[in-house]
Amino acid sequence: MQLCVALDLPTKEENLELIHKIKDYDLWLKVGLRSYIRDGEEFLKDIKKINPDFKIFLDLKLYDIPNTMADAAESIMGLNVDMFNVHASAGKRAMSEVMSRLEKYDNRPIVLAVTALTSFNEDEFSDVYGSKIATKADQFARDAYESGLDGVVCSAYESESIKNITDKNFMTLTPGIRPFGEDAGDQQRVADVAFAKNARVDFIVVGRPIYKAENPVEVIKKILEII
Ligand code: C5P
Repeated sequence: MQLCVALDLPTKEENLELIHKIKDYDLWLKVGLRSYIRDGEEFLKDIKKINPDFKIFLDLKLYDIPNTMADAAESIMGLNVDMFNVHASAGKRAMSEVMSRLEKYDNRPIVLAVTALTSFNEDEFSDVYGSKIATKADQFARDAYESGLDGVVCSAYESESIKNITDKNFMTLTPGIRPFGEDAGDQQRVADVAFAKNARVDFIVVGRPIYKAENPVEVIKKILEII
């Protein structure tokens, strides 16, 4: 299991300060909408300058018509990131088109599909998708697997079932991790590190419990110990 730190701080300077503090650890860094819209490709380059071994997950959750998604995926190829994601609800045709467009590259990033956002509770999810979270997350995972993706973004509670219905090597990445029972914030389906490890999760994403901590390095060290 790998630890992926979400770089969701309010300014580029604060993100860079955090990256400098944690630069000696074997980590993935997640650049999401806030940071990428504000700081763009330059920020991705800054990360690799601080430590070229940092792996970057570009969390832009693509959702559009198939051709536009495939075009966007091809643009991402120029950004030198190690992982990006799309929404499974964009459908199998869109996901397959993304994967076939990337076929010609031998060093393509890992591609994941978002199943159910971890901020949804059952009622909210049902309003949008007309289904229970677990049922739909399984179906989205099957769709992503059959479309040739490498894995899915899901909650730690769905990881085990998804591995069982796809393949044990089909990756799961789980946000909503509260390593030591911290405040859930807007997340609904939170789990701790040990739970994620038991559920055979491949990547845990941790944001606020690290970047809001007084000593982020201590939190990282404790998480890495459990991993
Ligand atoms: O601060 P926290 O640990 O809740 O951060 C979780 C991160 O994971 C945020 O950047 C959020 O956008 C992202 N994420 C999520 N749920 C998903 C996909 C991504 O919380 N399904």
